[in-house]
Amino acid sequence: MNLILKKTLDDVLSKNCVIQVFGLGYIGFPLLVKLCTNGFHVLGIDNDSKKIERIQNGELLESESHLKEIVLKSIHSGELVVDIQSAKSEKPRIAMICVPTPIPTKSIQSDIFVKDAVKAFLEMAKKGDVIILESSIEVGTTQKIKSMIESMGYKEGEDIGLCFCPERIDPQNKKWNLENIPRVIYCSDDLSFKIAKEIYQYINNSNLLRVKSAEIAEVVKSFENAFRLVNISLVNELAILCDKLGINVRDVLDAAATKPFGFLPFYPGAGAGGHCIPKDPRFLLESAKKLGLEFKTLENALSINIQMPKYVVDSIESLLIEKKLKKSVIICGLSYKPDIEDMRDSPGFKIYNELTERGFQVALYDPFFKNELSQKYVIENNIKDPDFKILPNLSDDSISSYDCLCIVQHHSKLKDRLNEIYKNSKIPIIYDCQGNLRFDPSSNSTLKILGG
Ligand SMILES: NC(=O)c1ccc[n+]([C@@H]2O[C@H](COP(=O)([O-])OP(=O)(O)OC[C@H]3O[C@@H](n4cnc5c(N)ncnc54)[C@H](O)[C@@H]3O)[C@@H](O)[C@H]2O)c1
Repeated sequence: MNLILKKTLDDVLSKNCVIQVFGLGYIGFPLLVKLCTNGFHVLGIDNDSKKIERIQNGELLESESHLKEIVLKSIHSGELVVDIQSAKSEKPRIAMICVPTPIPTKSIQSDIFVKDAVKAFLEMAKKGDVIILESSIEVGTTQKIKSMIESMGYKEGEDIGLCFCPERIDPQNKKWNLENIPRVIYCSDDLSFKIAKEIYQYINNSNLLRVKSAEIAEVVKSFENAFRLVNISLVNELAILCDKLGINVRDVLDAAATKPFGFLPFYPGAGAGGHCIPKDPRFLLESAKKLGLEFKTLENALSINIQMPKYVVDSIESLLIEKKLKKSVIICGLSYKPDIEDMRDSPGFKIYNELTERGFQVALYDPFFKNELSQKYVIENNIKDPDFKILPNLSDDSISSYDCLCIVQHHSKLKDRLNEIYKNSKIPIIYDCQGNLRFDPSSNSTLKILGG
């Protein structure tokens, strides 16, 4: 019996430990709050000092607003502590690493932030501490973390436990959330698994499937999102075909979805964005490349995903020329999915880049857009012309000088106004990438739906 990690397990069972969550973003912050409200002694760490200040002041993002009351109470009582750096403790420290993992390029490796966070944790580590990686990582990253642990003179799985439990959350999914999504986990040893099980009891009722190796867990995570990307690209190409055939892709999908087995409906849009679906499949591509292999399905899916905003712009341009209207477009919906403020790698901004390159007059609108984050959006979306015009709203006045409204994301809070704009013919053309508007013969606006 390993007495070091056994002692940690006993301490975790009596909550005599400190859980340090690294990275207080979409993944780490709700996790921190959950553990704190379940009686764990927690420390949230983020190297963005503005974020720390914002949390300390109880200013939460819209998607975090359901946590506001509990966060304010816990900060006030001193139970929820956030800081820009880790801290030592005599109690066992459990690191939960939730930092970003960027697409690898020549100048940046996907594990750069994970390694930074682990390094900061290890600098204050002692025997009995445990590291749980939650970030989505490339194959081989857990092994690198093991090497970091061992280079500090500790034995992985004996002195320090190591687990990889990738987060699977789908923000705004009403049915599946932090509490009920089962998780896959790799653990260096049985005691670390017992420790993880005890902690995840308060997260997802310990609904954990332990896999045999870190590599299996790493491939599982990337493959899940590769599966989604491939299917999204498949349905987007089908939408393009249906456009040309003059049939509605949704009629096809609804009919196909009546097959009770072997079919899973995905719906068309301007392309997958965000920090997961277009990124994680690239991790598998990297692995294949390192082994001298190709992964053509993924290469195709990624290239179709990149082409979708261009296809949307081509369609809009043809419509405007056909109707002899001006090259002026409002892009509505800049986040990567509805009802969220996350604007990373967003198809709306890709459409913006394409339209401005083609000399269109373009305005942007998103109720979640924050002026103070403009620079962040520019970097995250590789925006070529950063002097974008943001509309304050979709009022009659705001939209009056544009000939086309391109709806990229249907945020729930815009539902009534978008229906009204169409019904009351407030703009000559509406291009709906998600196909949520219903055709209304009484409207004088032309409604064009991607794939229909
Ligand atoms: N957002 C999702 O829906 C989602 C879903 C599943 C998995 N994931 C994965 O979870 C991980 C985190 O994603 P996210 O969306 O929460 O990212 P995020 O950008 O919202 O948050 C990450 C935070 O980590 C901080 N950070 C960076 N380096 C740090 C360091 N060395 N120490 C402490 N803090 C540091 C950043 O300042 C940022 O606040 C990624 O690997 C992502 O792929 C995300």
